[in-house]
Parts: sequence; structure tokens; C-alpha cells
Amino acid sequence: MTTETRQKRIGIFDSGIGGLTVLRELYKQLPNESVLYFGDTARLPYGTRTQEEILQFTNEIIGWLVKCGVKMVLMACNTSSALALEKVKSKFDIPILGLIVPGANAAVKQGKRIGVIATPATAASNAYRHAILEADPSVQVWQVGCPYFVPLIEQNQLHDPYTYQIAEEYLTPLIQQQIDTLVYGCTHYPYLEPILRSILPKSVNFVDPAVYLVEVAAKKLEIMNLQNDKTPKPTKFIVTASPEKFADLSLQWLGYRPIELQEISLSALLDQPISI
Ligand code: DGL
Repeated sequence: MTTETRQKRIGIFDSGIGGLTVLRELYKQLPNESVLYFGDTARLPYGTRTQEEILQFTNEIIGWLVKCGVKMVLMACNTSSALALEKVKSKFDIPILGLIVPGANAAVKQGKRIGVIATPATAASNAYRHAILEADPSVQVWQVGCPYFVPLIEQNQLHDPYTYQIAEEYLTPLIQQQIDTLVYGCTHYPYLEPILRSILPKSVNFVDPAVYLVEVAAKKLEIMNLQNDKTPKPTKFIVTASPEKFADLSLQWLGYRPIELQEISLSALLDQPISI
């Protein structure tokens, strides 16, 4: 690959700030890579949308990222990975990677009684159940759809006693099943870690699929000779609504306020790539 191709950005997208947990992991494992981060804040939450909507949004976003000239796309959204990855990935001629299979493969290495917390759409798709049982048919899987988590996280209400109460409610069936492993089936959920750890028995292992998605991405870049060996550019952030709120939450979760943050309209998403 030419240096110019290797220097291209990796596109990362989510409905909102959930994908920042993937971006944090990318900064750790692939510090040389430049990123274009897309948060579809005008249309979140994705987790209560229909499959048709998820498919449409995913197609639009990846199509736009490709037009902008990214070299790879990381779906930093489990809902899109569960409902759309298999349908869209063959449409584009760059690698498109999702969270489900890397997360499932990691989970079966950690335990035998696996709980998955996810958005209602991801849980209903059974994508994690299928991927986990394909990786190891001898394990048991329980999935819980958690409709309130994403809105509470996006509204920065982690310290509200109501959030703890809701978390207890969602985790009770998993505690009853004596899970030994918990998979974050939504990229927003790692922000809940202190709350979840305080509710679950200490012995439960936590699996963050973001870690393993980035490992897969690193291998893919190496195989395709696509790694950037020059100094990376600062991450460029694009959102479809509320850039101020996104910047505040980025400061909190990523540790810095995005310098390059732009809002684009949903109509621009269809036909106006930006220069990256
Ligand atoms: N963070 C995304 C996921 O992993 C989307 C959550 C949502 O918007 O409901 O599923």
C-alpha cells in the first residue's frame, strides 16, 4: 500500500458517545492511527429502532464515511453490528468490522455462564447468543434488553439513584442464573462499570467487546499492510445534532474536548462528504 493510503483515517461510528469506548481502546492499541468519528446524535437511541431503520442508517453512514475516504470502518455500535453488519459489509470495498463476533469469542474464553446486557434490538436479534454458541456450544447464554441505559447515559444521569435501581432490575435475572461472565452488549455500557460491579458478585468477569474489536482491526491492518507509520492527525468528530452536549460528554469520558468537532445535517449525510 502507498503511504498515502496507509495515512487515511479509520471511520468509527455509533449513535452517540458509546463509540468513544471503542475510540479509547483504539488510542491504546493503535496510537498511530487517525480517526474520523461519527455520532448520529440526531437519531439516537438506535436500540429501540426497527431493523429497517438500523439498516438504512448504517448504509447511509458507511456510504458517507467511504465517500470521505476512510480506509476501514469500525462499527462501534452493537445494534448496527447485530442487525446490519452481515447485510452491508459486502457492499463496500474496504474492511467493515463489528463487535459481536470479537466479543463472543472473548466471552467463551472467560466463562461458561454468560450474561449479555444489550439494547432491546440487539437482545431481540439473538446475535450474541448465536455467536457465543457458535464459538462454544457448551456454554449457556442469557440476554437482557436494557432500554433505559442509553438515554440515562446520554443524559449524563449516571449518579441518579434511579440509574442504580434500573441496573439492579436488569441484572437480577442474570444474578439468579449465577452468571460468571458479563458481556457489555452495547458500547455505552462500560460507563456503567462502577454501578454494575457494585451489584454483581465480585467473581463475575466483565467482557468489553471494544478491546477485541480493536485487536481484530489491528490484525486486519497488518495483513492488508494498511498501518499508518506516520504521526496521526487529531481525531475529527462529526455529529448530526447537539455538538455542545457531545463535547461535554467527550471531555468527561475521553478526557478531552474535541478540537475538530462539526455538526452536519442528515441531508448532507446522503451526498456531501467532508474533506478529511
Ligand atoms: N452504543 C450503541 C450500541 O452499542 C447504540 C445504543 C443506542 O443508540 O441505543 O448498541
